[in-house]
Amino acid sequence: MSGCRVLITAGPTREPIDPVRFISNRSSGKMGYAVAQASLEFGAEVCLVSGPVALSPPESARLVTVESAREMLAAVLEEIPTTDIFVATAAVADYVPAVVADQKLKKTEDEMTLTLTKAPDILKTVGHMENRPFCVGFAAETQNVAEYARGKLIKKNCDLIAANQVGDGRAFDSDTNALQVFWRDGDYVIPRQDKIQVARSLMGLVAEHYQQAQTDTL
Ligand code: PMT
Repeated sequence: MSGCRVLITAGPTREPIDPVRFISNRSSGKMGYAVAQASLEFGAEVCLVSGPVALSPPESARLVTVESAREMLAAVLEEIPTTDIFVATAAVADYVPAVVADQKLKKTEDEMTLTLTKAPDILKTVGHMENRPFCVGFAAETQNVAEYARGKLIKKNCDLIAANQVGDGRAFDSDTNALQVFWRDGDYVIPRQDKIQVARSLMGLVAEHYQQAQTDTL
């Protein structure tokens, strides 16, 4: 992957409710940072767009830090024109508060209702761009893993999608992971092991498919 520019999103997003509260999720960034490390080992140039995590980035990666889905989308769109391969590892919010309060919300009623609206879908946006990079999505599923992952592969127009079963301590914030990677007419299983080993297998597969796609367009 020498000379190849890889853009990776990692970690969670934080969607503010008021100046002190936010909606987020359990992503630690470990999987995305491992994908960044593996890409560097394969000789790629790496840009890592990261939500808030407690990890140090690989030394030679260029780090762009963001908080919200909207900020992550803006950072990704800025990098896309110089990206060959996009790997969307981040756990981006699907819904965000419709209104962000200027002041800390006060505890008055027994119940409160928070209205959420759809967040921008970063992978879907990039997947449907003209002259898009080679796109690798992730799918985090608690059930019907293969069916839902294949659905996301098509809906978000990815080249590959790496599905992981989540829940019961799996994948999110764990040091290990297992993936089933799908493409239009095939799939490949990466067994449970340390995330860096999983990332190396994934990027090996990505390199193979990327090279094939390059050859097909000649
Ligand atoms: O960070 P770790 O603790 O190491 O955990 C790793 C992980 C479980 C977060 C990772 O392996 C993983 O599965 N990442 C994707 C999580 C996710 O949000 O999956 P999804 O099935 O909801 O989303 C599908 C794809 O669309 C993902 O590539 C996601 O980045 C992308 N997406 C989702 C929502 C959104 N608004 N914009 C997006 O781009």
